[in-house]
Amino acid sequence: MGRHEVPTGARGRAPAAGVLREARPLDCRDVTVRFGAVTALAGVSLRVEPGEFVAVTGPSGAGKSTLLWALAGAVRPSAGAVILGSVPVVSRDQTAVLGVALVPQGNGLAAVLTALENVMLPLLAASQAPAAAHAAATAALASLGLGDSMNHLVEELSGGQQQRVAVARGLALGAPTLLTDEPTSELDHGNREVVLTLLRAHADAGNVVVMATHDPEAAAVADRVVRLDEGVLTVER
Ligand SMILES: Nc1ncnc2c1ncn2[C@@H]1O[C@H](COP(=O)(O)OP(=O)(O)OP(=O)(O)O)[C@@H](O)[C@H]1O
Ligand SMILES: [Mg+2]
Repeated sequence: MGRHEVPTGARGRAPAAGVLREARPLDCRDVTVRFGAVTALAGVSLRVEPGEFVAVTGPSGAGKSTLLWALAGAVRPSAGAVILGSVPVVSRDQTAVLGVALVPQGNGLAAVLTALENVMLPLLAASQAPAAAHAAATAALASLGLGDSMNHLVEELSGGQQQRVAVARGLALGAPTLLTDEPTSELDHGNREVVLTLLRAHADAGNVVVMATHDPEAAAVADRVVRLDEGVLTVER
């Protein structure tokens, strides 16, 4: 899988009723990730409780995306472990079944599908009935101000509109663990506020929300802010 691709869900596997809705603590224990000679994460520990919104800041190349991929099971730690509830995270397919949604940097949308199709796809993959998937996707897109654009192909949308479609896709899943990688980097002030309000509400509803961001004003909305520098995590507040 490429760096910015995201699996659309656990294809063909119907999760047991209720499994997707259960919010669990997300516990990153002394995780080190190496890419050849590069140490992207160096012994990172971070525990996020249900209902908590944590922002991850730090300069470009500090390891923010790598941390989100590791939390999602998309990157295997060289050392340490990520535990979701009591379950060791081993793969992206597994975390998709456990209700972990990842909104990747660069959006990960299918350019030749419409906005609505992009948002519906993971819902259908998670065995939602088409009518329910359509309703959830439509509501999520409308909440992000995309009610009039949902039938446009993604490649016809602006960068900021695409970014909001990607956030809608994460939110429509109602995922108990939502990992978002710089979800406001291309947005104007008004749309940034909309996205942050929705992420805040998602955490307040009892879910885990982790957001990588360069933007101090976006980080201010979080309960806690941690910072990565060359793969080393420190607590900012
Ligand atoms: N698949 C990969 N193969 C090799 N090196 C990688 C890979 N992914 C990330 N890296 C390296 O790991 C380090 C951390 O990268 P990462 O993308 O996590 O940083 P980031 O904090 O998200 O940066 P940005 O703010 O630019 O998105 C960088 O040195 C990067 O080049
Ligand atoms: Mg990144």
